[in-house]
Amino acid sequence: MILVFVGKSSGKTTNAVNVSTALAQRPMSLRAKRAQRLRRVRLVNADPQGSASEWAAQRGGVGDLVEVIDHIAPTIHKDLPELLAGVDDLVIDCPAGTGRPLPIPDGRIQITRSAILAALSEDNGVVVVPMTPSPWDLWAGDDLVEVIEEAWTFDGAAPGARSRTVLLLNRVSTRAASGDPKRTPLIVRAARSRLAASPLPVLHTVIHDRQDYVQAPVHGLGVTEYAPRGSAADEVRALTEELLTLAGENR
Ligand SMILES: Nc1ncnc2c1ncn2[C@@H]1O[C@H](COP(=O)(O)OP(=O)(O)O)[C@@H](O)[C@H]1O
Ligand SMILES: [Mg+2]
Repeated sequence: MILVFVGKSSGKTTNAVNVSTALAQRPMSLRAKRAQRLRRVRLVNADPQGSASEWAAQRGGVGDLVEVIDHIAPTIHKDLPELLAGVDDLVIDCPAGTGRPLPIPDGRIQITRSAILAALSEDNGVVVVPMTPSPWDLWAGDDLVEVIEEAWTFDGAAPGARSRTVLLLNRVSTRAASGDPKRTPLIVRAARSRLAASPLPVLHTVIHDRQDYVQAPVHGLGVTEYAPRGSAADEVRALTEELLTLAGENR
């Protein structure tokens, strides 16, 4: 799977490191009975701010469950064969979108464009746009929309590129939960209905606002390592399965 996290400062790095870790802890198939190797994962830091690389540096003695490399250039789509070599999953953590309309030349949006083109040129590529459910933070019409729409119509786009560009509700308040796990909290329902008009589908899995997400990276860990039985780990594993399904790789 090729997984690209793009958008404003809304949880790209947090979700990129957690999904990378969960993927690397996952056998190739959950259905096969025989013992199997785990997925091999490479996390690409494409952000000049380098948070994913800091996370890797912090891991110290944890070993190399996830390989983290820097590739901070708008050539991801061209370099894809090398970036993919030897791994099952490539997770790309992009810089924050500029929030300004095109055509302002901006290196960060060029890197983001390159990563989106890379993912959508393959039939196992998924582009994830995390966003908080606050009404003013939802799908603002910035340059990212144009870059995404351009990638959909680009000649090299693989079939289904539209359905593999998705929104992820992140930092959803746990206080909004009614106590009944079957009832969708009002803030999530409101966000989903506002987003119904957006060109991108919203993932079923929701990531809540939880301290595990803040604490785990302090130790250079993913939440599925830091607190494997916690609610954050559960929702990250659910997110990972949903993304693998979208990529056609959930076996
Ligand atoms: N689900 C979450 N729960 C709690 N804090 C979160 C969550 N997601 C992100 N954060 C915090 O929000 C801030 C921005 O998240 P980050 O992943 O760095 O965003 P981005 O990479 O998009 O800039 C960080 O301080 C991070 O710890
Ligand atoms: Mg980041």
